[in-house]
Amino acid sequence: MAQEQYQVIARKWRPQTFDDVVGQRHITETLKNELRSGRIAHAFLFAGIRGIGKTSAARILAKALNCQSSPTPTPEPCNQCDACLSIKNGTATDVMEIDGASNRKIEHIRELRENIKFSPAKLRYKVYIIDEVHMLTKEAFNALLKTLEEPPKHAIFILATTDDHKVPITITSRCQRFTFRGLGFSQMGEALRKITDAEGIRIDDQSLLYIAKRAEGSMRDAQSVLEQVISFCGKDVTREQVAELLGMVGGESIQQVTDAILANQPERILEVVDALVMQGHDLEQFYKDLVEHIRNLLVVKISSNAPQLLENSLTAADVLQQQTASISFQELQAIFKYLIRTEPLIKQSAYPRFTLEMALLQAPQMRAFELFDTTLHTIHALGEKFSAFQTLPPSAPPAIVPPDPIEDAIKIFRGARAEAVLPEERPQ
Ligand SMILES: Nc1ncnc2c1ncn2[C@@H]1O[C@H](COP(=O)(O)OP(=O)(O)OP(=O)(O)O)[C@@H](O)[C@H]1O
Ligand SMILES: [Mg+2]
Ligand SMILES: [Zn+2]
Repeated sequence: MAQEQYQVIARKWRPQTFDDVVGQRHITETLKNELRSGRIAHAFLFAGIRGIGKTSAARILAKALNCQSSPTPTPEPCNQCDACLSIKNGTATDVMEIDGASNRKIEHIRELRENIKFSPAKLRYKVYIIDEVHMLTKEAFNALLKTLEEPPKHAIFILATTDDHKVPITITSRCQRFTFRGLGFSQMGEALRKITDAEGIRIDDQSLLYIAKRAEGSMRDAQSVLEQVISFCGKDVTREQVAELLGMVGGESIQQVTDAILANQPERILEVVDALVMQGHDLEQFYKDLVEHIRNLLVVKISSNAPQLLENSLTAADVLQQQTASISFQELQAIFKYLIRTEPLIKQSAYPRFTLEMALLQAPQMRAFELFDTTLHTIHALGEKFSAFQTLPPSAPPAIVPPDPIEDAIKIFRGARAEAVLPEERPQ
């Protein structure tokens, strides 16, 4: 029973009005204005990553064009008339949802061209929603072109795609184009909170943040992760359960390892990694979170009063403040650069744990390199000033090239393979 209820979250929560669509106001407001003024394009292109509201917006637009509560298209479809209900239920014969992936051939588009000529059976407009339109063959695109150019007055096209680069420019230039955006954490968190409140699920904000983080901008993904969490935990969800289920590392481990790096405590670093491995955490994800955390420390160093720039942070603001107290911006930057450049090694390693350990053990030394680097630059600058006072005939001073500390550290880190270049630098 309960299982059945949980499985319908994504469908149950499909936005039914433009205002229900989260995070796409730049699109929904424009569409509403067009509907209000009656200046409606005859073809739209909805582009953007998976699960962010393209199909939902297309169906709302189909309802808005056809809602019977108004004699003309309306920005606020009623969701109660026969037209709205039939579109919502997918039974409206005048609204065609075509999957571009399985109807990609020229024959399918020819069929569409035959069909489009006839007036709508029941509604004001025939609406053709072609999903994953980038999958059409070249011939099919060509066949579609003519119809897109001069569609009958009663027809509207909505083309949707997750890969708009693959849609020929001849098609896109005939459409009004809308780019849907991936959702930010706080938007997603709020939307999930609405759902959990309505479903009677007790869950804390941090857990919702974990879920949003895993979804990487896609609302549908966030909802299905939430569903998974609910089936695992029931109606009372704890943060530990969520972290365990998602193989995520809580803010604490990131905090601990950062403390250990800042205080140069190699033993502590190894302990934290050991605990992560014992708990079966995803080490790659941990590394990503650590990089993000160091980035957040840099942000705090730049401005301690910019919470919007820290919206992804799994760590409380006061902890971030405290961690930045004992380190300079340049030192943090050196650690950040080093971690970023070491990431491919961790990803590709056959021994991710050991590679991670070595990378983290090396990280504290970036501070020293940074100091060394700064000192070297100062000496170099002083040397230049000094030589300006010299009356000796001008001759080219011996070139002092400050070493790149990051480069050196990576070489040391790579040990026996010091000669090898990093994968990203390898000639193609
Ligand atoms: N912007 C959004 N606001 C609220 N809910 C959303 C949003 N985007 C997606 N959802 C949720 O995800 C589900 C799927 O959304 P939708 O079908 O509109 O995505 P899509 O962009 O068409 O994805 P795909 O590219 O995979 O077809 C919806 O039923 C809804 O529950
Ligand atoms: Mg879709
Ligand atoms: Zn209606």
